[in-house]
Amino acid sequence: MSLAELPAEMSLTLTSEHEMIRQTARDFAQNEIAQIAAEHDESGEFPFETVKKMGALGLMGIEVPEEYGGAGLDTLSYVLALEEVSKVDASHGTIMSVNNSLFCNGIYLFGTEAQKKKYLFNVASGKKIGAYSLTEPMSGSDSGTMKSRAVREGDSYIIDGRKSWVTSAPVADYILLFTMTTPEKKHKGVTAFLIDTDQPGFNQGKKEPKLGIRASATSEIVFDNYRCSAENRLGQEGDGFKIAMTVLDAGRIGIASQALGIAEAAYEASIKYMGEREAFGQKIGQFQGLQFKIADMKTRIEASRLLIYNAALAKMRGKQTGARYTLEASMAKLFASETAMFCAHEAVQIHGGMGYSKELPVERYFRDAKITEIYEGTSEIQRMVIARQELGLR
Ligand code: CAA
Repeated sequence: MSLAELPAEMSLTLTSEHEMIRQTARDFAQNEIAQIAAEHDESGEFPFETVKKMGALGLMGIEVPEEYGGAGLDTLSYVLALEEVSKVDASHGTIMSVNNSLFCNGIYLFGTEAQKKKYLFNVASGKKIGAYSLTEPMSGSDSGTMKSRAVREGDSYIIDGRKSWVTSAPVADYILLFTMTTPEKKHKGVTAFLIDTDQPGFNQGKKEPKLGIRASATSEIVFDNYRCSAENRLGQEGDGFKIAMTVLDAGRIGIASQALGIAEAAYEASIKYMGEREAFGQKIGQFQGLQFKIADMKTRIEASRLLIYNAALAKMRGKQTGARYTLEASMAKLFASETAMFCAHEAVQIHGGMGYSKELPVERYFRDAKITEIYEGTSEIQRMVIARQELGLR
């Protein structure tokens, strides 16, 4: 269904609840995150204090029902809030997005009541931090080929192996882990587990020295004879790949919103600079060459926004009908992340030397934008998913 075909109750009118969460996220980001963003980007230190406060505001489990510690709001609320936070700082956006759409959403959809009580409540309310671990050193896009193993032993599983590029791993209390229980079955042999990071056999691996989103912590994790109770298995043996993909569909809407926030920040900085900076006796905003950049940036930003709202509404409909929203999520992620990179690139160019300097946040937007084209499925994977959906090859 396209946007034009949506029934009235699913139209793009934002309710007062949507406006409220957007305003809450905007105020918090501008009043509390803006002043620390550059410093944390420079030091690479995780912003514990602001993340705790985001939890108290309900931003760490927006779609989780209140009985499980969340804010009990809808997907549109989630994308609006994530856009506002990411517009000020994409690192906070990353932390918020993984906690919300990968960890909380996974447990809410697939967890038992006991798992929800133990793991969801504290993470959705922001008291604890959750992470999601699918990637391995030798399996990124081809996620069904992982080498880590979980072997059943009585009422436990023994987990061994190395996972990589785990957002928030260095600070996470719990991790939603995907590993192989039956390697010969390939993706049908993947199983999901809930990992307590304070248990023996769980080890932090090398921390990634990243180009951007530097205040969000990313590392390898290493399992060495980690004993995981069968009670901590999420879903059945072999369900893991589908759980990973279902959760990534939601995650991709989040990354699209993060990308939109970065694109808007780059755009607004450009508008401001073009109204201030003078060259050849006039404001640089008078030059048609730069005006065309603004036109292209604005058009792509608004198109991204519509694709994101479209995906959010598809997810909300899917909650009622059970229908997948894979296509909508991938289109939103693909377009919004390429828009973020496009806008950040143009913003640096518009700012000239100042765009290349750490004196202004534009160079941070440029570094932060790049990851949105890579994590939670590269642009190439999104194109593959979209084409397979359209060609009926799923
Ligand atoms: N929802 C539900 N089920 C899905 C699905 C989805 N979105 N996508 C695929 N499946 C199911 C298929 O229906 C199929 O089921 P059957 O076996 O019953 O037919 C099964 O999964 C296998 O599907 P495919 O044959 O399509 O699998 P594939 O091996 O060809 O891979 C892929 C498909 C889309 C390329 C997938 O591997 C993929 O998305 N890769 C990218 C992974 C990724 O995004 N990694 C980054 C993760 S996390 C991260 O970035 C770090 C972080 O900390 C945030």
